[in-house]
Amino acid sequence: MDERNFFDRLAPTWDANETLSTPAHVRHILSHAGIKRGDRVLDLGTGTGVLLPAIAEITGPGGFITAVDYSTGMLDIARSKFADLIPRPEFRCMDFETETIPGEYDHIILYCVYPHLHTPVDTLKWLRGVNLADGGTITVAFPSDEKFINSIHRHKHSESDILPPASELAAWLRLNGLSADVAESTHDNYIINIAKTPC
Ligand SMILES: C[S@@+](CC[C@H](N)C(=O)[O-])C[C@H]1O[C@@H](n2cnc3c(N)ncnc32)[C@H](O)[C@@H]1O
Repeated sequence: MDERNFFDRLAPTWDANETLSTPAHVRHILSHAGIKRGDRVLDLGTGTGVLLPAIAEITGPGGFITAVDYSTGMLDIARSKFADLIPRPEFRCMDFETETIPGEYDHIILYCVYPHLHTPVDTLKWLRGVNLADGGTITVAFPSDEKFINSIHRHKHSESDILPPASELAAWLRLNGLSADVAESTHDNYIINIAKTPC
């Protein structure tokens, strides 16, 4: 099944089944992304927008948030849930691996998205070059360790790739020219930050 259809099909029940991304857990993960008041934040693969209230809380009304997803089912739910959020997110229905997102951001977040990428290194390098402001950070994160994520993907017959342990993924990204470091790697948190500096 095409990945977009896969996520369109999951969209109506996504929030009911999403038990790990509690507001407190999401806040903890975002605390490692270094987001500040007034920052511009790009949430890639936003899904139903689980990160959006917490991002808005940190940036405050002077921030700017863009939420991207290629699943119209997911994005429609995010739009309807967060139409009144301040700052009001800009929603974009697009494939961020093949289409160019306009604008520059202080932080780019891929939350529960990485294993679904087809060309992860090229995509991360493109985002770093085109969308990330100098001194900015790309955060790759999950609300669990890789074993849990991989078991969910097996169970749901997702076409996703196997997620390696955070230390292995960070080392592999560094080998490929991305300045990646593990911010946290525990049973409950998998967080890698990629800085916009040459390796
Ligand atoms: C596992 S879901 C996570 C959604 C949300 N971040 C969350 O944690 O609830 C992955 C999301 O990424 C989106 N996605 C995956 N690859 C994408 C791409 N290349 N462009 C846009 N969206 C993508 C899917 O449609 C899906 O909504």
